[in-house]
Amino acid sequence: MNSSEADLAHIAVVGTGYVGLVTGTCLADLGHHVTCNDVNPQRIEALAAGQVPFYEPGLEAIIQRTVSAGRLRFTTDLRQALQGAAFAIVAVGTPSDAAGAADLTALHKVVDGLAAAAPKGLVAIIRSTVPPGTGDGVQRRLRDAGRPDLQVVNAPEFLAEGTAVKDFQEPDRLVFGGDAKAAQEVAKLWEGIRPVAKRHLVDRATAEVAKYAANTFLAARVSLINEVANLCDAVGADVRAISAIVGEDTRIGAKFLRPGIGYGGSCFPKDVQALAFTARSLGLNLAVAEAAETTNNAQWQRVHAKALKALGGSAQGKAVAILGIAFKPETDDTRYAPGLRLAKALVEGGAKVRMHDPIAKVPHDLVQQGVTQSNGPDQAIAGSDVVVLATEWKQYNALDWPALAKKAGRPVLVDGRNALPWEALVKAGWSVEGIGAHPPRLTVTP
Ligand code: UGA
Repeated sequence: MNSSEADLAHIAVVGTGYVGLVTGTCLADLGHHVTCNDVNPQRIEALAAGQVPFYEPGLEAIIQRTVSAGRLRFTTDLRQALQGAAFAIVAVGTPSDAAGAADLTALHKVVDGLAAAAPKGLVAIIRSTVPPGTGDGVQRRLRDAGRPDLQVVNAPEFLAEGTAVKDFQEPDRLVFGGDAKAAQEVAKLWEGIRPVAKRHLVDRATAEVAKYAANTFLAARVSLINEVANLCDAVGADVRAISAIVGEDTRIGAKFLRPGIGYGGSCFPKDVQALAFTARSLGLNLAVAEAAETTNNAQWQRVHAKALKALGGSAQGKAVAILGIAFKPETDDTRYAPGLRLAKALVEGGAKVRMHDPIAKVPHDLVQQGVTQSNGPDQAIAGSDVVVLATEWKQYNALDWPALAKKAGRPVLVDGRNALPWEALVKAGWSVEGIGAHPPRLTVTP
């Protein structure tokens, strides 16, 4: 809250998913007056009653304090949200369509709403992840609708689920794409952020590509370390030591070198596909980006193969416990969660699949296929023929693994994240199989 009163703005935020809600709430926390809008009345009603529609650490407390301070409001009425607003942040979904392209239907609908109801001179801030050319297209759409007074700036987000509030408050960098004056005005909204992060004022297409490039780099890293892990499996090397050795090269860096069951979530799969689609439509082949997805789509199958091997070749009639439903820890988001793909394959192979997650729920379609949700990990593990770790929630490390070895039908674990304390598990009688690594754990000097 370091901005002076003069710098504070009225901002409408359209879309209350992760991106819109975190952005709107955190901007209100910087002192701005924010009205969040969504077409979903249940969601707005719940938010107005102080209920956050998804699990995101730290968010609820900030919503409560900014609502109490009168700086954060919620409405289903776009016109109302836009009243007196100088900025409108567009944060609606851009899901993949059947061909892998980003579907901009919701975004265009909002833009038409802005054309109809935005106060004169408002700056529209596109926060949704959109293909290059979208911002320019929106600017044209507004002009054609008789609103040349409205400016469009792309301000992509780099918020990861589970750490979104921290990522907003302590960003590595901020990107604002558009005409210099409008981009600068938008950058000022983030002025209260301390310490000051580097601001990149660029053109719209650069901002749009930067977002896709960042996610594609991260996704490709994960796929590459997964490929290295798969090689390690074949030659008996230990990928955990290799991640450390490779990551100690300061040119490479240590993050995002954890192999496993593959990446999921609402961003990497969708964004890598959308980038590759955009390139293809321009006659370009982004072979590395495409390969990141191809490798990822095969990675959960390797865990499936390990589970089947542990089951003696067939899942028919076997009891399988899968720990973790969410696509990663600290979120209840199950979109593109690799553990769910695994569960589907196992249940279709005749297994009785029980899943556990501290907060995420088994989606309806899998429940219908017979996958059940256990209240606790011990309930899932009791009587199981194999346990698979799909999401590396910290609390699984602290389970009473010696007691669980006695409860399990067969104490066999496939650690799809190389996350559990293998030495202790092996001592407790578990047989453990990792991804590109095998017990006993190899040690690296600190
Ligand atoms: C990602 C980016 O990290 C954010 O910067 C970006 O803003 C966001 O997408 C978005 O576009 O909105 P998110 O999808 O929440 O955030 O999750 P990540 O933490 O990036 O993890 C993505 C997937 O990669 C997860 O399934 C995770 O388990 C997997 N992963 C990550 C690995 O398998 N290994 C690693 O070493 C790191």
